[in-house]
Amino acid sequence: MNLDASSPVLGYQSGFGNEFSSEALPGALPVGQNSPQKAPYGLYAELLSGTAFTMVRSESRRTWMYRIQPSANHPAFVKLERQLAGGPLGQVTPNRLRWNPLPIPVEATDFIDGLVGMVANSGAEKPSGISIYHYRANTSMQRVFFNADGELLLVPEQGRLRICTELGRLDLEPLEIAVIPRGLKFRVELLDPQARGYVAENHGAPLRLPDLGPIGSNGLANPRDFLAPVAHYEDDQSRTTLVQKFLGELWGCELDHSPLNVVAWHGNNVPYKYDLRRFNTLGTVSFDHPDPSIFTVLTSPTSVPGLANLDFVIFPPRWMVAENTFRPPWFHRNLMNEFMGLIQGSYDAKAEGFLPGGASLHSCMSAHGPDGETCTKAIAAELQPSKIDNTMAFMFETSQVLRPSRFALECAQLQSNYDACWASLPATFTPNRR
Ligand SMILES: [Fe+2]
Repeated sequence: MNLDASSPVLGYQSGFGNEFSSEALPGALPVGQNSPQKAPYGLYAELLSGTAFTMVRSESRRTWMYRIQPSANHPAFVKLERQLAGGPLGQVTPNRLRWNPLPIPVEATDFIDGLVGMVANSGAEKPSGISIYHYRANTSMQRVFFNADGELLLVPEQGRLRICTELGRLDLEPLEIAVIPRGLKFRVELLDPQARGYVAENHGAPLRLPDLGPIGSNGLANPRDFLAPVAHYEDDQSRTTLVQKFLGELWGCELDHSPLNVVAWHGNNVPYKYDLRRFNTLGTVSFDHPDPSIFTVLTSPTSVPGLANLDFVIFPPRWMVAENTFRPPWFHRNLMNEFMGLIQGSYDAKAEGFLPGGASLHSCMSAHGPDGETCTKAIAAELQPSKIDNTMAFMFETSQVLRPSRFALECAQLQSNYDACWASLPATFTPNRR
């Protein structure tokens, strides 16, 4: 166990996919077995499975919890009157779409009420696909939530969060990300007056580190930089609302205790966070760009080798040194579907119009690349080593077409003139001069 002594509130365990273990009281974790006749301190043992029992060992995710009350102790869930914003899905479109940032509401809004569905390619009935949301919040959750539909990848753009989970707490700030396993209960508290960011909901195989192939055994996101929490429990008998999302709908029930009551746990199905500034960015030292897959932080594979259900890809600060090379991201048409966001600064393919908190969608085979201004400058530039700084764009890339929500198609933030950014590309073809 590797405790972070720099934090008086939080401890973290480092690694990715490890068999972690943690106990908030000495001896609370049973030794040598998972479910003894009498668990220490009168706790109940409970298993949370993130994959099927029979999954091959290298893919298996599960965690044993030792808790004050088992999760089974709850009354019937009732469908909530207030459902998630953004749905239902609207007309699918081959057009390139771009949105300005959504405003943060003035009225009290917690993390759940502030989720807005933007695009999706699955309704979670099948174990594949993704859904993408914005979140905006100005109030800490007073309730506890779990998502039966998939794991959640949180990408903050504004405001620090404290994510209190069954397995312990994660503090998160912009330029960090967090992943919360499917079904794990959590409460999002705000450490700043307001918060905004992006969420990818992964209905497919759990996110993992990509294989490195010829890169070797180091590089990109290194396993030791992923941080899981240490056990932290609430022995609290006050009334608590527990909300779940089940096939896209919110259901709630009232508990007579806090469900964040796990005193000890062990397993590899855990929430974790990662600081994007620790990404070991690799690129060309000769000419031409590698494909942007060189920037993959986490991936959810499909059953087809190399075809991702979800790739989380970042475009971090980096040196550009390629000789005789068109340096912006090249023009291309992709089999995959790309939803992009911006955490800070600007993105090197666009001179303007793509703002922190904003987003764009380039679907399967839609043509895109640098805008006219960026392209013209790049062709004329005298190439020297230069650093792209103050930037952190990212992409949720998925193999199935993303369908925008009705909100995404009708909101005032949808830019009506996105196509125009490529209209200024000059005609430079000169058949008489090579
Ligand atoms: Fe692209």
